[in-house]
Amino acid sequence: MKKWYAVIGEPIAHSLSPYMHETWFKEHGIDAAYIPVQVKPADLEKAFFALKTLGVSGFNITLPHKESILPLLDHIDETASAMNAVNTVVFDGENYVGFNTDGDGFVQSLFAAPVKLSARVLVIGAGGAARGISYALKRSGFSDIVIANRTIARAEELARDIGGSAMTLADAEKSLGDFGIIIQTTSVGLSTDQALPISLENVKSGTIAADIIYNPLETPFLIKAKEQGCHTVNGVGMFVGQGAIAFEKWTGIKPDMEKMKELITNKLGGQYVNK
Ligand code: ATR
Repeated sequence: MKKWYAVIGEPIAHSLSPYMHETWFKEHGIDAAYIPVQVKPADLEKAFFALKTLGVSGFNITLPHKESILPLLDHIDETASAMNAVNTVVFDGENYVGFNTDGDGFVQSLFAAPVKLSARVLVIGAGGAARGISYALKRSGFSDIVIANRTIARAEELARDIGGSAMTLADAEKSLGDFGIIIQTTSVGLSTDQALPISLENVKSGTIAADIIYNPLETPFLIKAKEQGCHTVNGVGMFVGQGAIAFEKWTGIKPDMEKMKELITNKLGGQYVNK
């Protein structure tokens, strides 16, 4: 029987996940559909029951349900549990199991740049996204991770959890030259008229600067980083990376990420450069 998958969230109309997964299903000759479903926070439990009743094989979860889905699932894997957020659910025939592929998706995409595991890494922000990425960085072998956040207590808590250190945004700004990799995880770059979360005046040329936002393709942070001579990584790789890990969990197949990065970049009106 035809399988079907979904992404639930609110808003959901502009999600590129249906395009990405349906393209991969087609490429691999898999008879499956992937449907965007708008779900209000108050309806999450009913929506999950409906998905189960209708035989969903797996689904993605986006804002604002990444945390509230946890108590509804049968099992939560270790990463999702540490992050207290789920973005992918797999139905194994018996149980609905929650995973979080965001952090690993980001770190996979980071390796498209010339990164060194010995680099000092600065993570700007200490929210859910920063948490997932910091855990994944640690797991991937980065050992010197510094978290800087507007609210320092949140940076200290995350640093404690992953075995890193914490800094104020002002201190991070002053010592920016010490970092080989700078990762922007706050929501500040979503709008092109917003200020940067951190001034990039002291950044060294050649530093890798990454943003998790993919729309706009070039956030004010990345534009400034490029002007300063940084090697920039936008959020398309993370978006495709998290989707590719979910796709593999559902189908056992590793899809072509480079080709998808190009398709998504084109869809967003950009030009893909494979560096
Ligand atoms: P997400 O799950 O997307 O990471 P979040 O948990 O709400 O979202 O976290 C948002 C992050 O962006 C936080 O690190 C937040 O800083 P605070 O912990 O101090 O709130 C950061 N952030 C949001 N707006 C910001 C701003 N104007 N300047 C600096 N940091 C900001």
